[in-house]
Amino acid sequence: MIEFKNVSYSYNDSIGDNAAAVKDINLKINKGEFIGVAGHTGSGKTTVAQILAGLIKPCGGTILVDGIEYSDYKAAARVLRSKVGIVFQYPEHQLFEETVYRDIAFGPKNKGLSEEETDKCVRRSAALAHLKEELFEKSPFELSGGQKRRVAIAGVLATEPEVLILDEPAAGLDPSGRERLWGELHKIRKEQNTTIILISHSMEDLAQNAERIIVLNNGEKYKDDTVSNIFSDAALLKKCGLEIPEITKVIKLLNDGGMNIPENIFDITKLSDVICQRLGATL
Ligand SMILES: Nc1ncnc2c1ncn2[C@@H]1O[C@H](COP(=O)(O)OP(=O)(O)O)[C@@H](O)[C@H]1O
Ligand SMILES: [Mg+2]
Repeated sequence: MIEFKNVSYSYNDSIGDNAAAVKDINLKINKGEFIGVAGHTGSGKTTVAQILAGLIKPCGGTILVDGIEYSDYKAAARVLRSKVGIVFQYPEHQLFEETVYRDIAFGPKNKGLSEEETDKCVRRSAALAHLKEELFEKSPFELSGGQKRRVAIAGVLATEPEVLILDEPAAGLDPSGRERLWGELHKIRKEQNTTIILISHSMEDLAQNAERIIVLNNGEKYKDDTVSNIFSDAALLKKCGLEIPEITKVIKLLNDGGMNIPENIFDITKLSDVICQRLGATL
């Protein structure tokens, strides 16, 4: 539904700039996919996300939305902004209203929904983001980091995006907070057929959740493949300064010892089941 053809972006506004943040990127985002975007710090992840969300204008290339090529960037940006919602890396930058409720209501109100429709939308989005209604009248700035992130997610969901981009959403969350967040994303995707784009420098997070991973390196698209293909190529990851997931390292060690476990397992429960099977034991 969104396609980039040779898209580039430079913060210095010069085409062909060697130091461009995003260089000649081709990619396709299809409806309902769960895509991971990986890359070390400074590789261009946030810049790509902002181009996708129609927030910054590429200095080169073409963007297609639903097969339509827009020569006028303003028209493209309008369509992208109506379809793509982005939860920024620092959710506190995204919150600005006096109360949590008003913050979430901002998008639907702006779209011209009635008070009643807005209210429904706020409650539905808050529930999807696991945000308790008792927080509605609090100031977003009184909340914990995890709660702020939920408000930011609920606020973006309230605009009913077809594509939801989350830029490093797990930063600062503890393991149980992370697990809850992943559960919510999968639920949103299932219930609304929302395309999810998860940006993370953590390979564990991407391995666990995404179906396809786009690896960025130094502003270029380095690889775009299924999770198993990406993680079976340790040399590629090393070149990009990325780690293979811990679970894959464990499987490799077990296989060196003769266990013969498929390397495309990224779920700890599934791995323990397979180990038990191999050992002929039950947990
Ligand atoms: N506002 C900005 N002004 C100038 N350069 C920037 C700005 N934001 C990012 N960059 C540069 O663009 C490149 C890509 O950054 P970014 O997209 O933020 O990468 P990532 O999200 O992968 O860390 C980096 O070299 C970074 O220093
Ligand atoms: Mg970033």
